[in-house]
Amino acid sequence: MRRKIVAGNWKMNGSKDLAKELVGCVRSEAEALDNGVEVVIIPPLIYVADVVEQAGGKLAVGVQNVGQWSSGAYTGEVSADMAKDQGCEYALVGHSERRQLFGESDELVAAKVERLLASGLTAIVCVGETLEEREAGRAEAVVASQVKAALTKVAAEHWGQVVIAYEPVWAIGTGKTATAEDAQAMHAAIRVTLAEAGAPAESISLLYGGSVKADNAAALFAEPDIDGGLIGGASLKSEDFISICRAMPAGAES
Ligand code: PGA
Repeated sequence: MRRKIVAGNWKMNGSKDLAKELVGCVRSEAEALDNGVEVVIIPPLIYVADVVEQAGGKLAVGVQNVGQWSSGAYTGEVSADMAKDQGCEYALVGHSERRQLFGESDELVAAKVERLLASGLTAIVCVGETLEEREAGRAEAVVASQVKAALTKVAAEHWGQVVIAYEPVWAIGTGKTATAEDAQAMHAAIRVTLAEAGAPAESISLLYGGSVKADNAAALFAEPDIDGGLIGGASLKSEDFISICRAMPAGAES
């Protein structure tokens, strides 16, 4: 049985007030959900403690990034152990904004995945092709290579802490979503890649991300290999985010 997850990535947005109002509201709405979805809020690091204070129950907290080291003289960095210590259960790794704006390589992503899993966090590993790569017919190959590279250091006992988020770069923050059919096709391909990499492919949750909104979430979540969503813009408004959480069909896990 796969976990169904809807995670809200605030990116570099939000405030103490948002942490208080939105999280309180999402938490009480999340309690009323009966579709088995796990709701996760992933705020900027500086607001993690504020969000953790409001979270609990069906609402978990994650970080958007961690350093690849366990501790030491790395000014400005935060470790996976620290995120865990603060009450986080999830961490994003390899988001396309980290890859594109901060030059994160596949090797760095793999090192961070290893660190996160050792710390007991669930790693939401983000992968996705650019528009140029899709138009060149290379989308599946690019995503397969990102998935394989990110998972090279996963020990057998840690597969239960791995989640993959497929986020086509051209769909992030653009209002353009992959069709449910295209997203399903890529998710099915990712499952094949996972099996080739020696992972228990059928039990790993695969999320779709990229302009998921209240009005397109239900179609995406109805697909058999889409186990949830990674939500950017729409996670900053409690009503929109909760509508997306509600769009998960009950009993959709396989
Ligand atoms: P978006 O962002 O929903 O605003 O497209 C998704 C993401 O980057 O995780």
